[in-house]
Amino acid sequence: MLVAMILVPTVRLATPADARAIAELSREAIEHGLGWTWTRDRVLKSIHDRSTNVAVADEQGRVLGFGIMKYGDEKAHLSLLGVEAIHRKRGIGSLLLAWLEECAVVAGNDRIGLEARRDNESALAFYAQLGYRPVGSVAGYYHGLMDAVRLEKKLGTDPAP
Ligand SMILES: CC(C)(COP(=O)(O)OP(=O)(O)OC[C@H]1O[C@@H](n2cnc3c(N)ncnc32)[C@H](O)[C@@H]1OP(=O)(O)O)[C@@H](O)C(=O)NCCC(=O)NCCS
Repeated sequence: MLVAMILVPTVRLATPADARAIAELSREAIEHGLGWTWTRDRVLKSIHDRSTNVAVADEQGRVLGFGIMKYGDEKAHLSLLGVEAIHRKRGIGSLLLAWLEECAVVAGNDRIGLEARRDNESALAFYAQLGYRPVGSVAGYYHGLMDAVRLEKKLGTDPAP
């Protein structure tokens, strides 16, 4: 009898050894067409930053997705979130974001802000589903080439049905 095994990735803190995979995923999944700013060195800086968590979704030692969140006194900021294209729509983005949000609650933050490309319909749908609401926009946020939508979620409130 053939038994199918369903693998669920584990979310864990990134180590310096993950920095290259994260940077390459950022270039492919997020920064396409905008120039590469989240290089390995910049990711490494975030990994070592005490007020930032870099989380990865790890499946048998392979990084399938990652998220970078910086925590403040009251508000956290999601700097980046990306899942490898062939592993999207498996719940990995939600898993990563829930893990980072939990840390924000523990850190005493009451809301999370982020920016998303105005043309990124799938990300906007993803964040809306998880309770993020538009609070403004920033013209030319991405190297003057692309506008951003600013989104925010109040922690401790469930997404509207
Ligand atoms: C946005 C992103 C992180 C979502 O990750 P993911 O693992 O595919 O998301 P999930 O599987 O957890 O999706 C959760 C819900 O979000 C919504 N959603 C996700 N992708 C969607 C899409 N392409 N279109 C519409 N809704 C979508 C759905 O409601 C989905 O629930 P469902 O699968 O039950 O319908 C991923 O698409 C990605 O890496 N995109 C490229 C990088 C990027 O845009 N990052 C965000 C801006 S920094």
